Amino acid sequence: MLFRILNLSILFGFVTHHVTSQIPMTCTRMAYVTDSRKTLYIHGGNCEGFGASQLFSLDLTQQSLTKSMPSWKELTPAQGSATPPAAEAHSMTISQDSRTLTLWVGDLTYSFNLMTMTWTGPEILSKNATNCPALRAVKDLRSGDVYVPEGYNEGTQMAIYRYNGRFSWAPMPTAAVMPLESWLYSAVWSTLRGTMLLYGGNDLDSDQGSQFLVEYDPRTNAWSRIPTRGISPGDIYNHCMVPAYNGTKMVVFGGQHNKMVGSLGSIYVLDLESMSWTKGADVDRALWRSNMACTVAGDNFVAWGGKVNYGIEIYL
Ligand SMILES: *[C@@H]1O[C@H](CO)[C@@H](O)[C@H](O)[C@H]1NC(C)=O
Ligand SMILES: *[C@@H]1O[C@H](CO)[C@@H](O)[C@H](O)[C@H]1NC(C)=O
Repeated sequence: MLFRILNLSILFGFVTHHVTSQIPMTCTRMAYVTDSRKTLYIHGGNCEGFGASQLFSLDLTQQSLTKSMPSWKELTPAQGSATPPAAEAHSMTISQDSRTLTLWVGDLTYSFNLMTMTWTGPEILSKNATNCPALRAVKDLRSGDVYVPEGYNEGTQMAIYRYNGRFSWAPMPTAAVMPLESWLYSAVWSTLRGTMLLYGGNDLDSDQGSQFLVEYDPRTNAWSRIPTRGISPGDIYNHCMVPAYNGTKMVVFGGQHNKMVGSLGSIYVLDLESMSWTKGADVDRALWRSNMACTVAGDNFVAWGGKVNYGIEIYL
Protein backbone atom coordinates (compact mmCIF):
# COMPACT_ATOMS: atom_id res chain seq x y z
CA MET A 1 0.00 0.00 0.00
CA LEU A 2 1.34 3.42 -0.93
CA PHE A 3 0.54 6.75 0.66
CA ARG A 4 1.78 10.03 -0.65
CA ILE A 5 2.62 12.31 2.24
CA LEU A 6 4.91 15.31 2.04
CA ASN A 7 6.23 13.97 -1.20
CA LEU A 8 7.01 10.67 0.50
CA SER A 9 5.01 7.59 -0.26
CA ILE A 10 4.78 4.90 2.37
CA LEU A 11 4.95 1.19 1.79
CA PHE A 12 3.97 -1.06 4.67
CA GLY A 13 4.39 -4.69 5.37
CA PHE A 14 1.18 -6.42 6.34
CA VAL A 15 0.68 -9.33 8.63
CA THR A 16 -1.19 -11.34 6.02
CA HIS A 17 0.30 -11.99 2.62
CA HIS A 18 -0.11 -14.20 -0.36
CA VAL A 19 2.44 -16.94 0.10
CA THR A 20 3.57 -16.74 -3.50
CA SER A 21 6.83 -14.98 -2.72
CA GLN A 22 9.55 -15.45 -0.14
CA ILE A 23 8.95 -12.71 2.38
CA PRO A 24 10.12 -12.27 5.95
CA MET A 25 7.81 -13.02 8.84
CA THR A 26 6.40 -9.74 10.13
CA CYS A 27 7.95 -9.43 13.55
CA THR A 28 8.76 -6.69 16.01
CA ARG A 29 12.18 -5.48 17.13
CA MET A 30 14.07 -6.67 14.08
CA ALA A 31 17.58 -5.45 13.36
CA TYR A 32 17.81 -3.57 10.07
CA VAL A 33 20.24 -1.54 8.01
CA THR A 34 20.12 0.14 4.61
CA ASP A 35 23.09 -0.08 2.29
CA SER A 36 23.76 3.07 0.25
CA ARG A 37 19.99 3.53 0.09
CA LYS A 38 19.51 0.65 -2.37
CA THR A 39 19.13 -2.50 -0.25
CA LEU A 40 17.39 -2.95 3.08
CA TYR A 41 18.54 -5.89 5.22
CA ILE A 42 16.48 -7.16 8.11
CA HIS A 43 17.35 -9.85 10.62
CA GLY A 44 15.48 -11.71 13.32
CA GLY A 45 12.89 -10.04 15.48
CA ASN A 46 10.28 -11.24 17.92
CA CYS A 47 7.88 -13.30 15.84
CA GLU A 48 4.82 -14.29 17.85
CA GLY A 49 6.87 -14.65 20.99
CA PHE A 50 9.98 -16.27 19.51
CA GLY A 51 13.32 -14.74 18.58
CA ALA A 52 13.88 -15.44 14.86
CA SER A 53 17.03 -15.96 12.81
CA GLN A 54 15.58 -14.91 9.44
CA LEU A 55 17.76 -12.74 7.21
CA PHE A 56 16.24 -11.01 4.19
CA SER A 57 17.15 -8.28 1.78
CA LEU A 58 14.74 -5.95 0.03
CA ASP A 59 15.62 -4.33 -3.26
CA LEU A 60 14.79 -0.63 -2.84
CA THR A 61 14.94 0.36 -6.47
CA GLN A 62 11.88 2.03 -7.91
CA GLN A 63 11.14 -0.97 -10.15
CA SER A 64 10.98 -3.21 -7.08
CA LEU A 65 8.90 -0.94 -4.87
CA THR A 66 6.23 -0.19 -7.46
CA LYS A 67 5.51 -3.91 -7.95
CA SER A 68 2.56 -5.31 -6.01
CA MET A 69 5.01 -7.55 -4.16
CA PRO A 70 8.36 -5.86 -3.56
CA SER A 71 11.50 -7.92 -4.23
CA TRP A 72 12.43 -9.65 -1.00
CA LYS A 73 15.23 -12.20 -1.02
CA GLU A 74 15.99 -14.68 1.73
CA LEU A 75 19.73 -14.87 2.46
CA THR A 76 20.12 -18.56 3.19
CA PRO A 77 23.47 -19.56 4.72
CA ALA A 78 25.79 -21.71 2.63
CA GLN A 79 26.61 -25.26 3.72
CA GLY A 80 29.25 -25.27 6.41
CA SER A 81 28.19 -21.89 7.79
CA ALA A 82 27.75 -21.46 11.53
CA THR A 83 24.11 -21.54 12.64
CA PRO A 84 22.35 -18.21 12.07
CA PRO A 85 21.76 -16.50 15.42
CA ALA A 86 18.21 -15.94 16.65
CA ALA A 87 17.85 -12.48 18.16
CA GLU A 88 15.46 -9.62 18.79
CA ALA A 89 15.81 -6.01 19.98
CA HIS A 90 19.30 -5.92 18.48
CA SER A 91 21.08 -3.79 15.87
CA MET A 92 22.77 -4.35 12.52
CA THR A 93 25.53 -2.48 10.71
CA ILE A 94 27.10 -3.07 7.30
CA SER A 95 30.79 -2.77 6.45
CA GLN A 96 32.05 0.11 4.32
CA ASP A 97 32.64 -2.29 1.40
CA SER A 98 29.02 -3.60 1.75
CA ARG A 99 30.27 -7.17 2.10
CA THR A 100 29.64 -7.94 5.74
CA LEU A 101 26.60 -7.51 7.96
CA THR A 102 27.28 -7.34 11.69
CA LEU A 103 24.66 -8.03 14.34
CA TRP A 104 25.05 -6.38 17.72
CA VAL A 105 23.30 -8.52 20.31
CA GLY A 106 23.90 -7.33 23.87
CA ASP A 107 27.63 -7.81 24.48
CA LEU A 108 28.11 -10.12 21.44
CA THR A 109 28.47 -9.65 17.70
CA TYR A 110 27.78 -12.04 14.84
CA SER A 111 28.80 -11.42 11.24
CA PHE A 112 27.34 -12.55 7.95
CA ASN A 113 29.60 -12.48 4.91
CA LEU A 114 27.42 -11.58 1.90
CA MET A 115 30.01 -12.97 -0.53
CA THR A 116 30.39 -16.43 1.02
CA MET A 117 26.93 -16.42 2.69
CA THR A 118 28.40 -17.64 5.95
CA TRP A 119 27.83 -16.66 9.55
CA THR A 120 30.64 -16.28 12.07
CA GLY A 121 30.45 -15.55 15.76
CA PRO A 122 29.65 -14.91 18.44
CA GLU A 123 32.48 -12.56 19.28
CA ILE A 124 32.51 -11.16 22.76
CA LEU A 125 32.69 -7.37 22.76
CA SER A 126 34.94 -5.47 25.14
CA LYS A 127 35.16 -6.17 28.82
CA ASN A 128 32.40 -4.22 30.56
CA ALA A 129 30.29 -4.05 27.40
CA THR A 130 26.66 -3.64 28.45
CA ASN A 131 24.70 -6.85 28.03
CA CYS A 132 21.12 -5.74 27.61
CA PRO A 133 18.55 -5.62 24.81
CA ALA A 134 17.65 -2.61 22.69
CA LEU A 135 21.12 -1.09 22.43
CA ARG A 136 21.58 0.77 19.16
CA ALA A 137 24.80 0.37 17.17
CA VAL A 138 25.38 3.27 14.76
CA LYS A 139 28.10 3.32 12.13
CA ASP A 140 30.05 6.54 11.61
CA LEU A 141 29.98 6.62 7.82
CA ARG A 142 33.09 8.80 7.64
CA SER A 143 35.46 6.88 9.89
CA GLY A 144 33.83 3.44 9.93
CA ASP A 145 33.76 3.44 13.74
CA VAL A 146 30.64 2.10 15.47
CA TYR A 147 29.02 3.88 18.42
CA VAL A 148 26.88 2.03 20.93
CA PRO A 149 25.24 4.56 23.27
CA GLU A 150 24.86 3.03 26.75
CA GLY A 151 27.00 0.16 25.50
CA TYR A 152 29.64 0.38 28.21
CA ASN A 153 29.77 0.06 31.99
CA GLU A 154 26.12 -0.83 32.57
CA GLY A 155 24.72 1.83 30.31
CA THR A 156 26.53 4.76 31.87
CA GLN A 157 28.89 5.26 28.93
CA MET A 158 28.98 4.90 25.16
CA ALA A 159 31.14 2.16 23.63
CA ILE A 160 33.16 3.01 20.52
CA TYR A 161 34.40 0.17 18.31
CA ARG A 162 37.03 1.59 15.97
CA TYR A 163 37.25 0.43 12.37
CA ASN A 164 40.81 -0.77 13.15
CA GLY A 165 39.62 -3.05 15.93
CA ARG A 166 40.52 -0.73 18.80
CA PHE A 167 38.07 0.12 21.56
CA SER A 168 37.33 3.33 23.39
CA TRP A 169 34.40 4.91 25.10
CA ALA A 170 32.73 8.30 25.43
CA PRO A 171 30.46 9.77 28.07
CA MET A 172 26.69 9.71 27.63
CA PRO A 173 24.94 13.11 27.48
CA THR A 174 24.85 15.05 30.73
CA ALA A 175 21.50 15.69 32.43
CA ALA A 176 21.59 19.25 31.05
CA VAL A 177 21.59 17.84 27.50
CA MET A 178 19.28 14.84 28.07
CA PRO A 179 17.50 15.06 31.43
CA LEU A 180 16.33 11.45 31.55
CA GLU A 181 18.08 8.16 31.46
CA SER A 182 16.66 7.39 28.08
CA TRP A 183 16.28 4.03 26.28
CA LEU A 184 14.45 2.91 23.16
CA TYR A 185 15.35 6.08 21.27
CA SER A 186 16.34 6.06 17.63
CA ALA A 187 19.93 6.87 16.71
CA VAL A 188 21.26 7.47 13.23
CA TRP A 189 24.38 8.76 11.52
CA SER A 190 23.97 12.13 9.79
CA THR A 191 26.14 12.44 6.69
CA LEU A 192 25.16 16.10 6.43
CA ARG A 193 26.35 17.03 9.92
CA GLY A 194 29.06 14.41 10.35
CA THR A 195 27.51 13.49 13.71
CA MET A 196 25.25 10.89 15.32
CA LEU A 197 21.70 12.09 16.01
CA LEU A 198 19.57 10.57 18.73
CA TYR A 199 15.87 11.33 19.10
CA GLY A 200 13.23 10.47 21.69
CA GLY A 201 13.44 7.59 24.14
CA ASN A 202 11.97 6.72 27.46
CA ASP A 203 13.07 6.35 31.06
CA LEU A 204 11.82 2.86 31.80
CA ASP A 205 11.46 3.39 35.55
CA SER A 206 9.43 6.57 35.48
CA ASP A 207 7.89 6.02 32.00
CA GLN A 208 8.90 9.62 31.24
CA GLY A 209 9.74 10.26 27.60
CA SER A 210 12.43 12.41 26.06
CA GLN A 211 11.41 14.91 23.39
CA PHE A 212 14.94 16.04 22.64
CA LEU A 213 17.10 15.79 19.59
CA VAL A 214 20.67 15.35 20.77
CA GLU A 215 23.88 14.98 18.83
CA TYR A 216 27.23 13.29 19.41
CA ASP A 217 30.08 14.96 17.55
CA PRO A 218 33.13 12.67 17.14
CA ARG A 219 35.35 15.70 16.47
CA THR A 220 34.79 17.02 19.99
CA ASN A 221 33.77 13.73 21.66
CA ALA A 222 30.85 15.68 23.16
CA TRP A 223 27.05 15.70 23.17
CA SER A 224 24.78 18.70 22.70
CA ARG A 225 21.06 19.33 22.37
CA ILE A 226 19.93 20.66 19.00
CA PRO A 227 17.18 23.30 19.07
CA THR A 228 14.53 22.65 16.42
CA ARG A 229 11.63 24.67 15.03
CA GLY A 230 8.05 23.63 14.40
CA ILE A 231 6.04 20.98 16.18
CA SER A 232 8.22 17.95 16.86
CA PRO A 233 7.00 14.35 17.33
CA GLY A 234 7.28 14.96 21.10
CA ASP A 235 8.33 12.35 23.62
CA ILE A 236 8.15 9.08 21.75
CA TYR A 237 10.06 5.81 21.83
CA ASN A 238 10.18 2.59 19.83
CA HIS A 239 9.76 4.80 16.75
CA CYS A 240 12.14 4.94 13.80
CA MET A 241 14.24 7.77 12.41
CA VAL A 242 15.80 7.28 8.98
CA PRO A 243 17.60 9.63 6.57
CA ALA A 244 15.96 10.81 3.33
CA TYR A 245 17.05 12.84 0.32
CA ASN A 246 20.77 12.19 0.64
CA GLY A 247 20.68 12.88 4.35
CA THR A 248 19.23 16.39 4.09
CA LYS A 249 16.10 15.22 5.96
CA MET A 250 15.20 12.70 8.65
CA VAL A 251 11.85 10.91 8.69
CA VAL A 252 10.44 9.98 12.11
CA PHE A 253 7.55 7.52 12.14
CA GLY A 254 5.35 5.69 14.63
CA GLY A 255 6.44 4.48 18.05
CA GLN A 256 4.74 4.91 21.37
CA HIS A 257 4.05 7.85 23.62
CA ASN A 258 3.88 6.00 26.92
CA LYS A 259 3.22 2.48 28.15
CA MET A 260 -0.52 2.94 28.45
CA VAL A 261 -1.08 4.00 24.87
CA GLY A 262 -0.56 1.74 21.89
CA SER A 263 1.38 2.39 18.73
CA LEU A 264 1.31 5.73 16.90
CA GLY A 265 0.85 6.49 13.21
CA SER A 266 2.35 9.94 12.90
CA ILE A 267 5.05 10.80 10.43
CA TYR A 268 7.32 13.83 10.72
CA VAL A 269 10.07 15.13 8.51
CA LEU A 270 12.98 17.08 9.99
CA ASP A 271 14.82 19.30 7.56
CA LEU A 272 18.44 19.20 8.71
CA GLU A 273 19.40 22.41 6.96
CA SER A 274 16.75 24.59 8.67
CA MET A 275 16.27 22.21 11.66
CA SER A 276 12.51 22.52 11.28
CA TRP A 277 9.88 19.80 11.64
CA THR A 278 6.98 19.26 9.25
CA LYS A 279 4.16 16.90 10.18
CA GLY A 280 2.52 14.67 7.62
CA ALA A 281 -0.99 13.28 7.82
CA ASP A 282 -1.35 10.31 10.16
CA VAL A 283 -1.47 7.05 8.28
CA ASP A 284 -4.54 4.84 8.36
CA ARG A 285 -5.18 3.68 11.92
CA ALA A 286 -4.80 0.02 11.01
CA LEU A 287 -1.18 0.76 10.09
CA TRP A 288 -0.07 2.50 13.28
CA ARG A 289 2.92 0.71 14.70
CA SER A 290 6.06 0.66 16.80
CA ASN A 291 9.32 -1.33 16.70
CA MET A 292 9.19 -1.70 12.91
CA ALA A 293 12.00 -1.69 10.36
CA CYS A 294 12.14 1.51 8.29
CA THR A 295 13.99 2.98 5.37
CA VAL A 296 13.63 5.58 2.65
CA ALA A 297 14.33 5.07 -1.04
CA GLY A 298 13.80 8.11 -3.23
CA ASP A 299 10.29 9.35 -2.44
CA ASN A 300 9.28 6.08 -0.76
CA PHE A 301 9.20 5.63 2.98
CA VAL A 302 9.14 1.91 3.74
CA ALA A 303 8.08 0.35 7.05
CA TRP A 304 8.03 -3.39 7.63
CA GLY A 305 6.57 -5.35 10.53
CA GLY A 306 6.44 -3.91 14.01
CA LYS A 307 3.82 -3.97 16.72
CA VAL A 308 0.45 -2.99 15.33
CA ASN A 309 -1.77 -3.31 18.40
CA TYR A 310 -3.29 -0.35 20.21
CA GLY A 311 -3.23 -1.85 23.68
CA ILE A 312 -0.76 -1.81 26.53
CA GLU A 313 2.73 -2.80 25.53
CA ILE A 314 5.17 -3.59 28.28
CA TYR A 315 8.57 -3.53 26.69
CA LEU A 316 11.24 -5.10 28.87
C1 LIG B 1 34.50 -2.33 34.57
O1 LIG B 1 33.48 -2.45 35.55
C2 LIG B 1 33.95 -2.59 36.86
C3 LIG B 1 32.76 -2.90 37.77
O2 LIG B 1 31.69 -2.00 37.52
C4 LIG B 1 34.68 -1.30 37.25
O3 LIG B 1 35.18 -1.41 38.57
C5 LIG B 1 35.84 -1.05 36.28
O4 LIG B 1 36.44 0.19 36.53
C6 LIG B 1 35.33 -1.07 34.85
N1 LIG B 1 36.46 -1.02 33.94
C7 LIG B 1 36.65 -0.02 33.09
C8 LIG B 1 37.88 -0.16 32.23
O5 LIG B 1 35.91 0.93 32.98
C1 LIG C 1 25.05 13.93 -0.64
O1 LIG C 1 25.50 14.31 0.64
C2 LIG C 1 26.90 14.31 0.78
C3 LIG C 1 27.23 14.55 2.26
O2 LIG C 1 26.47 15.58 2.81
C4 LIG C 1 27.51 15.33 -0.16
O3 LIG C 1 28.91 15.34 -0.04
C5 LIG C 1 27.11 14.99 -1.59
O4 LIG C 1 27.56 16.00 -2.47
C6 LIG C 1 25.59 14.87 -1.70
N1 LIG C 1 25.25 14.36 -3.03
C7 LIG C 1 24.33 14.93 -3.79
C8 LIG C 1 24.07 14.26 -5.09
O5 LIG C 1 23.73 15.94 -3.45
